[in-house]
Amino acid sequence: MLEAKDRGADNGIFIDQRGMVAESSNMNVAFVTKGRVFRHPPFDAILTGITIQRVLQFAERLVQQGELKEIRIADIPVTEGRQAAEMMLIGSSIKVAPVVQWDGQPIGDGKPGPITKKLLEMWNEDTRSATDQLVAVPYPD
Ligand SMILES: Cc1ncc(COP(=O)(O)O)c(C=O)c1O
Repeated sequence: MLEAKDRGADNGIFIDQRGMVAESSNMNVAFVTKGRVFRHPPFDAILTGITIQRVLQFAERLVQQGELKEIRIADIPVTEGRQAAEMMLIGSSIKVAPVVQWDGQPIGDGKPGPITKKLLEMWNEDTRSATDQLVAVPYPD
């Protein structure tokens, strides 16, 4: 992140030795393709964040509602990522945050995209109301 800030950016994206998108300094990275496919790298060499785990459940709901075509967890070459319609950072520090520019080039139309906004709304709503994620804590009297 410090290296990115030195270069005038807010954050950096880790790229692995093969040129595949990995993650960010304390966030996961996802994309929405122009064909409305939700894309995320495989979790074998990156952190399986708690936020992305929940966001993937929301993305599944968007597939059922027809707003996304499908979810594909597979390697994402940098060249593919740069051509995405939407790019987002996902993690407990920033929840779901749109990336509108990467290395000085706009992502999509250079504005926060509709799927990113919807996933953030779903996250916010979930944290206010979800009961399936709550765990009863047996406090002593
Ligand atoms: C390397 C890395 N990736 C992803 C994440 C996101 O994880 P979470 O959603 O649990 O905050 C973190 C969080 O610290 C991280 O350090």
